[in-house]
Amino acid sequence: MKGFTLWFTGLSGAGKSTIANKIEEILLERGMKVEVLDGDVVRTNLSKGLGFSKEDRDINIRRIGWVCHILTRNDVVAIGAAISPYQAIRDENRKMIGRFVEVYCKAGIDALKQRDPKGLYEKALRGEIKGFTGVDDPYEAPDNPEIVCETDKESVEESVNKIIRTLELMGYIPAGETSEGYSAEEETKIKKRLKDLGYI
Ligand code: ADX
Repeated sequence: MKGFTLWFTGLSGAGKSTIANKIEEILLERGMKVEVLDGDVVRTNLSKGLGFSKEDRDINIRRIGWVCHILTRNDVVAIGAAISPYQAIRDENRKMIGRFVEVYCKAGIDALKQRDPKGLYEKALRGEIKGFTGVDDPYEAPDNPEIVCETDKESVEESVNKIIRTLELMGYIPAGETSEGYSAEEETKIKKRLKDLGYI
């Protein structure tokens, strides 16, 4: 099996890490080699010392992209999960990596403010954190992601299923035993998306 990169993008708290970790679990169970590069984790080692200016975010995302690139070319499934707010840098990574599947974890700011498990939105809104993505720092939603997970509307399981099914239909992972479990409506939507993008 050839490697690929599954790249999650979206605001803080939109579900990137949760979904990425579930996907990792499933792919490991299916016998694949997988590595997750999570923004919060990478910032404690590879990107330690970087802040949240545009410049530092770009360095962080290029570093994660480069590690995903070398993993991908060694037939590992690399999963990137960082806010990655800028389209141009995500596209740089896409170009470098080639086999690159972008997953947009989309959730309205109101839902995120309500969830706010780390209390960061509250702090940002009070002005205690400056330059917080989605509050007073930009987030550029992807132009053409392979997959959109509307995490304020669908369950984690639904998002996970959508991603796994898309990867199966793209031929990036072999079909699993649960592949018949998807609704006809969902299957039609996924196929249409992949047709529009020229994959099938
Ligand atoms: S990125 O912009 O460089 O892609 P990354 O995903 O690594 O960001 O880190 C985001 C995490 O850092 C958030 O989930 C949050 O916990 C924390 N964080 C701290 N300050 C900020 C900020 N100003 N903007 C966004 N996230 C922040």
